[in-house]
Amino acid sequence: MSEIISIANQKGGVGKTTTAVNLAASLAERGKNVLLIDIDPQSNATTSLGYKRSDYEFNIYHVLQGIKKFSEVVLKTNIQGLSLVPSNIGLVGIEKEFYDPRRKNRELILKQKLDEIRDSYEYVIIDSPPALGPITINVLSACDSVIIPIQCEFFALEGLAQLLNTVSLLRKTINPKLRIKGFLPTMYSKQNNLSKQVLADLSYHFKDKLFHFGKEEECIVVPRNVKLAESPSFGQSIISYAGGSAGSVAYRELASVIMRG
Ligand SMILES: Nc1ncnc2c1ncn2[C@@H]1O[C@H](COP(=O)(O)OP(=O)(O)OP(=O)(O)O)[C@@H](O)[C@H]1O
Ligand SMILES: [Mg+2]
Repeated sequence: MSEIISIANQKGGVGKTTTAVNLAASLAERGKNVLLIDIDPQSNATTSLGYKRSDYEFNIYHVLQGIKKFSEVVLKTNIQGLSLVPSNIGLVGIEKEFYDPRRKNRELILKQKLDEIRDSYEYVIIDSPPALGPITINVLSACDSVIIPIQCEFFALEGLAQLLNTVSLLRKTINPKLRIKGFLPTMYSKQNNLSKQVLADLSYHFKDKLFHFGKEEECIVVPRNVKLAESPSFGQSIISYAGGSAGSVAYRELASVIMRG
């Protein structure tokens, strides 16, 4: 059975896609069989791995609609062990379908589809859109756990209560096993006092939910790192684009912690 981990935060631009792509690549580098699902109409994870829209005909939208099976839309990537279910802007259409109150179990559409591939991969990583709408609800209903990237900037914790309430509500209702895998501070700058403040706030409120690797008092933070920002434009993960960079180190450490269970 695969472990299904989503990356979610309704705040935009906090590092969800960067985390999804590079965690998936780091797990694959460690020999794991990994599926990355892009379920954001912006399709940034798809593009980050070097795919253009014209390269593929079918995507996650067709799976959710029931027109295609997962196995029929999966793409290989240039990373051994990493497969991708691409997305497309057309996915915005599914939001309307998901909202339709006449549709039964509309929060569980993704979960039901995922049952089809649960035995095929060791890890399924899902990159979600910056909204707490029906797509993200489907993601949180389908996954075992969620990683919440927190950008180390002003307003970092804004909206977090709403996300945590949603997680808690879903746990009480349709997904009792859902847990918060952890908070991942992203775009951390040592020189920036605001970054330090956000990390201090996170440590104060959620100490047990930060990822620890090596020295227990230190948690994994993804530094602000230009290589991480550049790698998508080359269609590569940080592992192949700049394997020795600080960004790469952070995502490899995160993968190690995830593999430890
Ligand atoms: N640690 C980092 N250092 C430097 N740049 C980063 C880092 N993480 C992400 N970025 C850059 O910040 C921008 C936003 O990151 P990303 O796309 O991963 O966020 P997101 O949460 O997925 O955004 P959206 O909400 O739009 O889906 C991108 O240009 C990305 O390359
Ligand atoms: Mg994104």
